[in-house]
Amino acid sequence: MAIRTILEFPDPRLRTRAQAVTRFDPEFQRVVDDMLETMYAAPGIGLAATQVDVHQRLIVIDISAEHNDPLVLVNPEILSREGEVATEEGCLSVPGYFEEVKRASKIRLRAQDRTGNVFERDCEEMLAVCVQHEMDHIDGKLFVDYLSSLKRERIRKKLEKERKERGTRSASLSRARASDGARKPLPERAL
Ligand code: NI
Repeated sequence: MAIRTILEFPDPRLRTRAQAVTRFDPEFQRVVDDMLETMYAAPGIGLAATQVDVHQRLIVIDISAEHNDPLVLVNPEILSREGEVATEEGCLSVPGYFEEVKRASKIRLRAQDRTGNVFERDCEEMLAVCVQHEMDHIDGKLFVDYLSSLKRERIRKKLEKERKERGTRSASLSRARASDGARKPLPERAL
């Protein structure tokens, strides 16, 4: 297994519409394992393949407190939606930002598991929000798209400035920062 690099907003690759998964071969299993490892390491509670530059309809989620209940969704579809809930969402591709987004509070989901078996499941609350957030990713959509263009622009500029600062910092300094823990940790609810 390997930890993959997570693309960050406004990387244009995050705007790619992913293709359906048709092969559940060993190479695909490796991608699933890498995504789980990348999500847990981030740490995050959800990750879409698009975020690691793999443009297949694949999502991993784990909202359990113990991080031991992974859910792998392949070619997911939402069959029905109900209700509305506003949640403060974060995203591993928009590190450090949390904004309220409104989504359906209940969904009925159909997907395949990592071996290709089709299943249906009702999702509520946090899980429903998480699935909808990740399904946006595989359609090239980000949670910042729900914000005002002013807010989105502000986030984009701040992230680009941070990235620039990271890029010009010397290697020894960034190593020192990484080891002394000065880097702001990603909140655990990012997805
Ligand atoms: Ni996200």
